[in-house]
Amino acid sequence: MPNSNIINLKEKAGQTVTLAGWLYNSRSSGKLIFLIIRDGTGLCQCIVEKGKINDELFENLKHLGQESSLKITGLVRPEPRSPGGYELAVTDAQIISESTDYPITPKSHGIDFLLKNRHLHSQRAWAIGKIRHTLIDSIRRFFNDNGFTLIDTPIFTAMAAEGEQTLFKVDYFDSPLYLTQTGQLHLESAAASFGKVYCFGPTFRAERSKTRRHLTEFWMVEPEIAYIDLDGLLQLAENFVTFIIQQVLEKNSPELQTLGADIPSLEKIKPPFYRLTYTEVAEILTSEKTKTFLADQLAEFKNQKQQLTEKIAELEAAKTTAKKQWQKDKAAAELLQIKTTLSELAAEFRWGKDLGGSDETIISQMHDKPIFVTHYPKQAKAFYMKTDPENDKVVRNFDMIAPAGFGEVIGGSMREDNYDTLLERIKDMGYDPENYSWYLDLRKYGSVPHGGFGLGVERTLAWLTGEKHIRQCIAFPRLMDKVYI
Ligand code: 4AD
Ligand code: MG
Repeated sequence: MPNSNIINLKEKAGQTVTLAGWLYNSRSSGKLIFLIIRDGTGLCQCIVEKGKINDELFENLKHLGQESSLKITGLVRPEPRSPGGYELAVTDAQIISESTDYPITPKSHGIDFLLKNRHLHSQRAWAIGKIRHTLIDSIRRFFNDNGFTLIDTPIFTAMAAEGEQTLFKVDYFDSPLYLTQTGQLHLESAAASFGKVYCFGPTFRAERSKTRRHLTEFWMVEPEIAYIDLDGLLQLAENFVTFIIQQVLEKNSPELQTLGADIPSLEKIKPPFYRLTYTEVAEILTSEKTKTFLADQLAEFKNQKQQLTEKIAELEAAKTTAKKQWQKDKAAAELLQIKTTLSELAAEFRWGKDLGGSDETIISQMHDKPIFVTHYPKQAKAFYMKTDPENDKVVRNFDMIAPAGFGEVIGGSMREDNYDTLLERIKDMGYDPENYSWYLDLRKYGSVPHGGFGLGVERTLAWLTGEKHIRQCIAFPRLMDKVYI
């Protein structure tokens, strides 16, 4: 008999099936053992009744450790208390390999502990991984179904696009090359050939900031469109974001629930999103209303910080037991999170600067839907962005800020399509125009208004799942100070 998957059990009600998986959790009461089995597709309760299987197997199952691998056979029947709505009345089992003292228990653990054990299964990382899969599948689906052609842009590149300070240099047969910061420049060439294109791949940035929003290796999807304007880009972005959220809500509601995601708020995400210019954001950030908002938030977080510090001191004073150590780790992780939030709530704004993490957090917390912030000061943004013909201090760009404190998820712009202006911007940046000659060529032969944007997969996932740190949103995160496994 082939093995069945937990996700398909409802089609097997009344039949005897075999599941091949691992023991997630168990408890026993006299003549009954309740085993929660996971098989990669979900969780299922399996009831073992004394007398229904041989006594030796009953005893072995009773003492089986978490994450032992086993095959288990039984009758499928509906049971609302089982995680997937169906349970197995066990008739046979085969223990494949025993596991004892599994480090990750079904209780919650601190982030650092989980990252050190990323090679081992955790239910939280599993739920995030399932949602990530849907997210990536729906990203591709959206562009494939809307007339975009996929272009795979190179990972080794010769030029900076998003600032030289975050380039990773590699030794390419004795001459320097860089790991790509964006596929955009090559994509602009492809857009002039195919009209509507996208690339989707790993992206590398030597980010020296140890924030909850930065990885050194992350995944970004970038569409690029010939003959579009800024309004067209914003509409594309809001339709795209709405589509991917709908798909995740439709396909991953059990996982979203496991993670404690804010599903009602996600259900509200529909076009139109908010539209504000950078200058309007500047007014908000320096207003009295914001000062009051910040003062309230600060007071609340300081209060929480105080309580946690006291709790840790109390636990430290008490005799150390394994349970207390675990509570201490958890409180310390919460404290760290609050300290991060506190540091992000300090307004650091001044006109002309890019919006910083704290500015984004503030704007983000004041809104219930994503916010498009447009027309940033030219000096704060990348050289390729189109100077606004109506105000040459700003560019025709946008960032999409996710609501509820999650910050920038998309960065995009119209591109400078005028040869002379672009050449001047390249020189202003101190770049060697020689390196950009092919890119400049695109402005020589049939230049058209064009633009696009990039959406970061991990930041989007952090927003959808409610995870504070984006390092939780990729299986094996790469950070400036740590590459765990
Ligand atoms: O705003 P960014 O730097 O834009 C670009 O790279 C453009 N070339 C995109 C384009 O117009 N085609 O990055 C886009 C997005 C950010 O909004 C963020 O979601 C993500 O990429 N991102 C990061 N994610 C994780 N870690 C980092 N260090 C990130 N840097 C950017
Ligand atoms: Mg950006």
